[in-house]
Amino acid sequence: MTTLNLIGAGRVGRTLATLWARHGVFEIQDVLASRLASAREACTAMGAGTAVGSLQAMRPADVWMVAVQDARIAEVARALAATQASGATRPIVFHCSGAQNAGSLQPLANLGWRTASAHCILSFTQVEAAVQQFAGTACALEGDATVCAVLEPAFQTIGGQCFRVAGEDKVLYHAAAVFATNFLPVLQSVAEAAWTRTGVPTHLLPQLRANLLRNAVDNITRLGPAGALTGPAARGDVAAIERQAAVVQAWDAPSGEAYQALSALALRLAGH
Ligand SMILES: NC(=O)c1ccc[n+]([C@@H]2O[C@H](COP(=O)([O-])OP(=O)(O)OC[C@H]3O[C@@H](n4cnc5c(N)ncnc54)[C@H](OP(=O)(O)O)[C@@H]3O)[C@@H](O)[C@H]2O)c1
Repeated sequence: MTTLNLIGAGRVGRTLATLWARHGVFEIQDVLASRLASAREACTAMGAGTAVGSLQAMRPADVWMVAVQDARIAEVARALAATQASGATRPIVFHCSGAQNAGSLQPLANLGWRTASAHCILSFTQVEAAVQQFAGTACALEGDATVCAVLEPAFQTIGGQCFRVAGEDKVLYHAAAVFATNFLPVLQSVAEAAWTRTGVPTHLLPQLRANLLRNAVDNITRLGPAGALTGPAARGDVAAIERQAAVVQAWDAPSGEAYQALSALALRLAGH
């Protein structure tokens, strides 16, 4: 069976390694975390792999998954390359970041390793939950075509839905996910601050939040973004937008700028 070494045994590393071990896709070989105890705990939980305490202790493998935090990928690639000699085998190495491309693994590419990135669009909060939820997850593959050809069936076997992203598009691709999810809590917090400032009782906020968000999700899911748009921009009421923008700006300047920018996008979405 194809062997896989895992560097970074956190939420993503453990989830994918667990699924691949269960489905017999890869033989999970050596597992490294920043702490040996963490690697040991991961191997026990996965029922697979051998915990090791250093990069030097990792045996050669066909595939290496680097599932460390984004800020550590480059340093791990440098450190791993320093332990390896260039050879004829050309192992596969990939990381799991959404925002970085295979270029973060350049020190290994310099040794002849084939590099890629594989980003799964799922919020991996807890390993057990992510293992259950993984089927149907969209997985963006980027990098060396021969690596993508190996990773695609590996992800498909555990229920992933693969597609390709160009290396130069990874940052924009990842920014899209920020728009899709990360800004929602930000917008909600601005709305709640403005409601509080204008006297909406605090105890009503949780219900208000739940109702409006549920309606928005239902409408967007059913009708798509343009069909679900309501409010002054949907009606093309530019005068109302300008009045509100001025009031929001006076209350809180960053919120006022966001209001202006989002209103311009909303008018464009509504075709005005
Ligand atoms: N979480 C998500 O929802 C999600 C979704 C898609 C993609 N991703 C991507 O997946 C990657 C991993 O994220 P994660 O959320 O799984 O991170 P995580 O849960 O914080 O786990 C990171 C793991 O890396 C280990 N580590 C850190 N530095 C290391 C080093 N120098 N050498 C070896 N191991 C090291 C940590 O060890 P210890 O256990 O000892 O601390 C930990 O096991 C990131 O690129 C992230 O952007 C995350």
